[in-house]
Amino acid sequence: MSESRQDKIRVLMVCLGNICRSPTAEAMLRKKLHEAGLDDRVEVDSAGTSDYHVDSPPDRRAVAHGERRGLRMQPLRGRQVERADFDRFDFILAMDEDNLADLERIRPAGSRAKVALLMSFAPHAGAREVPDPYQGGADGFEHVLDLTAAAADGFIASVRSN
Ligand code: 4NP
Repeated sequence: MSESRQDKIRVLMVCLGNICRSPTAEAMLRKKLHEAGLDDRVEVDSAGTSDYHVDSPPDRRAVAHGERRGLRMQPLRGRQVERADFDRFDFILAMDEDNLADLERIRPAGSRAKVALLMSFAPHAGAREVPDPYQGGADGFEHVLDLTAAAADGFIASVRSN
């Protein structure tokens, strides 16, 4: 196996609470990587910019909606982004502009991670951000699934082309 084949791409999905959007984005990308036969090329994790839900399981609504699309989120637990993540991960992908601004604020100088909005991988999906579904209804959770699915497809296409 060549060196480049062994080098994993590490991706961290980030939202505010790490119980709705980013665990959904994590599970969605993991599922699509598996379907694409790329499990061994990419590692996925998620975290929150806040410490509100450290060690908590994902929101039960996110889990229920995700399950209907074959996502496995139950074992995930909340954690807060830390400075070391900027060296551990190649891509740190924010769900919205607030998350992105918070990440830029704590980003250590000279860190190697590419920090961007997740939806930059799906420019044709018509959304710049993955909106926070926490205070809303079922539609919000379905929208998160649609958007994260489009972004996961775009991310996988970029892995394949590089
Ligand atoms: P998330 O949603 O950032 O997608 O995990 C939220 C979850 C919890 C809170 C806000 C957003 N909260 O304020 O507790």
